[in-house]
Amino acid sequence: PRSIFFSRHGESQYNVEGKIGGDSLLSPRGMEYAKALPALITDNIGDQPLTDLKYTKLTWKSLDELDAGVCDGMTYEEIEQAYPDDFANRDEDKFNYRYRGGESYRDVVVRLEPVIMELERQENILIIGHQAILRCLYAYFHHLPQDDLPYIKIPLHTVIKLTPKAYGCDEERYALPI
Ligand code: G3H
Repeated sequence: PRSIFFSRHGESQYNVEGKIGGDSLLSPRGMEYAKALPALITDNIGDQPLTDLKYTKLTWKSLDELDAGVCDGMTYEEIEQAYPDDFANRDEDKFNYRYRGGESYRDVVVRLEPVIMELERQENILIIGHQAILRCLYAYFHHLPQDDLPYIKIPLHTVIKLTPKAYGCDEERYALPI
């Protein structure tokens, strides 16, 4: 059976600083993960030789992180200070809350529809993505409710393997202690 593998990008400098969005470099730990990922995939994964990551690599614009609009590059503390109402609204309904000049999780789910169609017809594929994006994809394959979606924990430095079955998906996780 074919599988879909998800991983967040290695820890970024913004992750370390607690800032959202941005286009940040990887932290030293994140770099370590990026270097270790090919071996993790080849050593652990599957009955078919998946990859040494010398496979065709595609960059999909539709996998960009949830756009935090005016809050891009801020910490949650800074957002709470600058936009207290927004901060409260997001807490109230995280799935539907749309950042000023940015996106909501609902927007991202819509944006990801073509990606999901593509994933449905791909063979084995590894998606390296951002947390909000992987939350949406993960929720789709596990049929998780919208209200839970924005709170799904997608840990750093972990490959999640989903193998679609007739009903639902089998899941395995491979964490690297980095
Ligand atoms: O790293 C940030 C996540 O991708 C999104 O965070 O829980 O504020 O939506 P969130």
